[in-house]
Amino acid sequence: MLFSSFLSLASAVVVAVATPAPLSLHVRHESRRAVPHGWSLDRRADPDAFVPLKFRLRQSNLENLDAYLLDIADPQSPNYGKHWTPEQVAQTFRPSPDSVDTVHSWLVNSGGVDLQKIRIGSDGSIRVDVTVSEAESILGAEYYVYRNADDDKERIGCHDGYSLPEHVSKHVDLVWPTVHFGNHKHIRRAGDGSKGVWHRPGGAPKAIADDDAMSPGPTNCDKGVTLDCLRALYNFNYTLVAADKNTMAVVEFGSNVLLQSDLDGFFKHFDPQQVGHKPTLVSIAGGHLNASETDPENLGESTMDFQLVMGLLGRTQDVLLYQVGKDNNDQDPVDELLAALDGSYCSDPAIKQLGLVDCGNKPRANVVSISYSTSPDINDPTDPATTQLVQRQCAEIGKLSLQGITFVASSGDTGVSFGPTQACLAKNGTAVEGNAPGTFVPQFPASCPYVTAVGATEVTAGNSVSDPEVATTAFPSGGGFSNFFPQPAFQARRVNRYLKNSLPAGYDSSIFNASGRAYPDVSANGFPTVVAIDGEFTTSGGTSASAPIFASLVAAINDARIAAGKSPVGWINPALYSHLFATAFNDVKNGTNPGCGTQGFPAARGWDPVTGLGTPNFNSLLARFMSLP
Ligand SMILES: *[C@@H]1O[C@H](CO)[C@@H](O)[C@H](O)[C@H]1NC(C)=O
Ligand SMILES: *[C@@H]1O[C@H](CO)[C@@H](O)[C@H](O)[C@H]1NC(C)=O
Ligand SMILES: *[C@@H]1O[C@H](CO)[C@@H](O)[C@H](O)[C@H]1NC(C)=O
Ligand SMILES: *[C@@H]1O[C@H](CO)[C@@H](O)[C@H](O)[C@H]1NC(C)=O
Ligand SMILES: *[C@@H]1O[C@H](CO)[C@@H](O)[C@H](O)[C@H]1NC(C)=O
Repeated sequence: MLFSSFLSLASAVVVAVATPAPLSLHVRHESRRAVPHGWSLDRRADPDAFVPLKFRLRQSNLENLDAYLLDIADPQSPNYGKHWTPEQVAQTFRPSPDSVDTVHSWLVNSGGVDLQKIRIGSDGSIRVDVTVSEAESILGAEYYVYRNADDDKERIGCHDGYSLPEHVSKHVDLVWPTVHFGNHKHIRRAGDGSKGVWHRPGGAPKAIADDDAMSPGPTNCDKGVTLDCLRALYNFNYTLVAADKNTMAVVEFGSNVLLQSDLDGFFKHFDPQQVGHKPTLVSIAGGHLNASETDPENLGESTMDFQLVMGLLGRTQDVLLYQVGKDNNDQDPVDELLAALDGSYCSDPAIKQLGLVDCGNKPRANVVSISYSTSPDINDPTDPATTQLVQRQCAEIGKLSLQGITFVASSGDTGVSFGPTQACLAKNGTAVEGNAPGTFVPQFPASCPYVTAVGATEVTAGNSVSDPEVATTAFPSGGGFSNFFPQPAFQARRVNRYLKNSLPAGYDSSIFNASGRAYPDVSANGFPTVVAIDGEFTTSGGTSASAPIFASLVAAINDARIAAGKSPVGWINPALYSHLFATAFNDVKNGTNPGCGTQGFPAARGWDPVTGLGTPNFNSLLARFMSLP
């Protein structure tokens, strides 16, 4: 036992050697409320076992991420559209030399760690090769072995959290392994069952498409929404001119796959030129297609997304299919996606330990459309691991936005509740299923401010495409306020106007968090979308349809900007809420998004948490984005 004499770090013992570390008190750096669901405490860890400790140091300048982003995304900024290079981003957020020095000299001087056992990564992460008993003395912690009931996997962790000296603590994000359990299986207790943590919204009723639904031209769009309906609704009649220079991707998770035969069947009817046109498969974490898939549950999402995006953009645009695998079921698919797109994300020790498959080796697209959601709020929001997971994912989305990528996500199909089980939060903070009265549950990634969240609208029965759309009634469109991300200033004026004028009586802070990031930002038609699935024309939809529709329009705007020698639009939210864009949307004023024993939020004039700023008027949006540098 090398450090058996070094008993408690709780006292401020500092051994001054070469570079004396400032005397400082130890503070509890992280702890967790309970053993994660599905795991149990098994035994004390073997003191001689080898446990390499990894320190993730605080990133530099993360507090400036919003300012950096606004500098290139605020339409008033002289630097609008001047996106950063990946190198600039990696450089800017790398931990500072001061952080590396502080932690390093503390380990050597106070921790008594042999210099040879410390490795500093080029990204500023620090690895220390020690035994359990050494780790215990360094961190003032006790290590235990935890066992998972499902698969008997074992994992080592500190039961009662861990401590760091105050002057070190402020340079460290986290130390691993300690209180973090990489896999988030425990989210499933909210009732997602075998579907896992992430799911496609899937709330729209499905039916066989009849002759009315299949009508040619923008007619009967209340009965079936075809490409012609969407073009007419959103004034979208644009022919791509820079398709070979532009990129767009749609993300699909796990067993959600498409059949080429369904794309061909759809295009044979609606756009014969595209029969045989395929998306380009980008396999992430082992994701693959399955030509023998027949289950409509597994075919509905991807098939719909690609029929819409390829249908709207036309034959000349290659569309990437980010197929995120199910081979690595334990991992969060958004982590897999972000790691595949950005090598600096996977060098993070907390990410590295997850054993993600790909790392910065997949092509990036200018627009990324995501029709899946999860909710941090039903995954033990007081657990530091939960907060860190969504914060680091959202920050990473922000860093990719800084490089000119637009992330578009569906806002969910269950109103103010979450997921297929319609979870809401009881007073004691636990998720209760079945729309029970309680606190509203926001969706992720829609609630990340760097994502453009899209709600769903429909053409009221008997109305035409020239009448105003309403928030969907076939299913409640997702929307609300984040509990994790504060409200960005660029949306505060519109949101406050809504809160002041349109909020139903009795909606207080026990029901939703008025200071949080409000979503959706925009909306687009989500019902009843005509889709060819497993050889049959059906109608379905959801915010799952709304997101790729809106994303396609952004891709078309990028096409025009690229052709004019400008950059892609990147993060568009500050522009969308700005004065310049005030009349670029079709305001949607009717409808609600019920859930949690309430009518949810009512749509209203201006921005609302059901349909956002409204549906796009493509020509107006295009003209405004073309007017920007
Ligand atoms: C779309 O644009 C083409 C070419 O500019 C034009 O011929 C056609 O009439 C337009 N279609 C609609 C529905 O406006
Ligand atoms: C493909 O789909 C079929 C039918 O659902 C299923 O039995 C098979 O396991 C799937 N194959 C793969 C590799 O996922
Ligand atoms: C929390 O409250 C819900 C609803 O009142 C109840 O069903 C559940 O058992 C409670 N859970 C705990 C841990 O107290
Ligand atoms: C409300 O949102 C703010 C800003 O994101 C957050 O700091 C706060 O913790 C949230 N409150 C609750 C009760 O979740
Ligand atoms: C919206 O609501 C108003 C007032 O209730 C009603 O007059 C109007 O017809 C509705 N519009 C649509 C498109 O449903």
